[in-house]
Amino acid sequence: MRTARTKLRRFPVRGSFDAATVYAILDKAPIAHIGFTKDGTPAMLPMVFWRRDDHIYFHGAAKNRMFGAVTEDPDVCVTATLIDGFVAARAALHHSMNYRSVIIYGRAEEVADPVEKLAALRGLIERFYPERWDKIRQPSEREFQSVSVYRLPIHEASAKVRSGFPAPYPEDFGREVWAGFIPVQMTLGAPQMDPNSDPATTPPQDMTRLEAVMASAIPAAAATKPKPAQTAAAPTKTEVKTAAITFELADGTSKTVIAKTGMSVMEAAKGAGISGIVAECGGSMACGTCHIYVAPEWASRLPPPTAGETAMLDFVEGGPRPESRLSCQIKIAEGMDGLRVKVPDAQR
Ligand code: FES
Repeated sequence: MRTARTKLRRFPVRGSFDAATVYAILDKAPIAHIGFTKDGTPAMLPMVFWRRDDHIYFHGAAKNRMFGAVTEDPDVCVTATLIDGFVAARAALHHSMNYRSVIIYGRAEEVADPVEKLAALRGLIERFYPERWDKIRQPSEREFQSVSVYRLPIHEASAKVRSGFPAPYPEDFGREVWAGFIPVQMTLGAPQMDPNSDPATTPPQDMTRLEAVMASAIPAAAATKPKPAQTAAAPTKTEVKTAAITFELADGTSKTVIAKTGMSVMEAAKGAGISGIVAECGGSMACGTCHIYVAPEWASRLPPPTAGETAMLDFVEGGPRPESRLSCQIKIAEGMDGLRVKVPDAQR
């Protein structure tokens, strides 16, 4: 849910308030950091957590200072982050990380009902090890009382995702330094048996949930591709043709731009100062601020979006529509004369 607290101010296009996106990130993150206030001092603890429907749950020793503090002041801020890669750019301040993160604000409440509490604890085990709960010893009364379980609604939450290459800054192209990203992936090692185990036992057969938590979920195709190589041969004079592209602007007016073939629609828009086409990443499919709607009669006449473009469209301001495209990914070609596109109101 979008609120003053979850509003994304920096690279808002990387954000999402879509529950499916938020849930997908939470379901991959092994731990979350719970921020709370204790005696007027901010504090934060990393904790294992699990999600059931539209709540996350976390637990710990009932005497944990966090639970005492949360009982007094239930306002918490929870973050969960997955690191997908290190991004090395050509300029010092353009280095970055590829990541997926969620932030949730809300009021935590204790799960006090014993039946609900036991079900919640079962959910913790089964988050990682399906069908293990019925094989393990159930908590004794003393153990049960010694832990607290809290839950937090996932209502005031937002997600933020960065993927792909460094943002392209043409003034740095050609510098003799490698640029790109180094993917990060968590993997499971070989199970190590506790020496006190019954030697007849075997490691969990079903590691699918652990593997699901560990594996990176960013499909390779979602990684942004680099700006077309600068070294690509410039079209010769005889190859260059033009096409008229009409932009309907958010204020209801329209502007027709004569653009050369080979340019992207985004480049044509930027060159003509079309309001609402920011193109913050310069065309590397990492910002979504070049979002346009293509007129219905043109949708089937353009090359279809790649998987990476479709993935990025999920994060555009205001959300995608069937006719949504990233203008940086549409190359103007012969036959596009008369193309009509609209700048979304959300980019006004
Ligand atoms: Fe950034 Fe198109 S996605 S300019």
